[in-house]
Amino acid sequence: TNINVLFYLAAYLIGAIPFGLILAKAFANTDIRTQGSQSIGATNVLRVLKETNPAMAKKLAIATVVLDALKGLAVILVAAYLGLSPQTQWTIGVLAVIGHCFSPYLKFEGGKGVATAVGVVLYFLPLETLIAFSVWYLLGRTVRISSVSSLGALGALIISSFLIHYEMPHINTHAPLLIIAFVVVYKHIPNIMRLLGGKEKQVI
Ligand code: G3P
Repeated sequence: TNINVLFYLAAYLIGAIPFGLILAKAFANTDIRTQGSQSIGATNVLRVLKETNPAMAKKLAIATVVLDALKGLAVILVAAYLGLSPQTQWTIGVLAVIGHCFSPYLKFEGGKGVATAVGVVLYFLPLETLIAFSVWYLLGRTVRISSVSSLGALGALIISSFLIHYEMPHINTHAPLLIIAFVVVYKHIPNIMRLLGGKEKQVI
């Protein structure tokens, strides 16, 4: 309906808020878009501030991942509270991720969508998110490359949700999930290129 379009727009505009960029600018006077991977996510906050402002790096990176995830969760919780259908809630979550990745406040540049996607899938697919988180954590401890953790977790999320497959009737989970996966992988193309070239750096 027409009303839903307003919710979609709101979700996109809220998802687009670049918390990493804002926090690094406000608390460390650094524009993370000009350094490191040039991304606006928690990984790049950590990477860039570790060099310039180590005291703030971890704190601001954690704040970034939490706030970026909360954007995804918050828009869905509001949609659920307002009684919008689960499929509409899913669409709203997808739009928050798209907003984060293609932000109108940043000339349609943005982040890579991982944290915001966590907020979204945590709500709809808590078990699969837990499985994905475990893969993220294990890869983080072993490989120590953020993009590898992210892409591995994404793979685990997709595989586990297709395997578990407890879809409720009339709710399509796979389509929104695949759109999120497509966007996240698309935004990781530079990382994938660096990985293939052996040039992607460890974070911590
Ligand atoms: O969550 C983003 C991560 O997968 C990669 O970030 O800054 O290393 O490109 P970055």
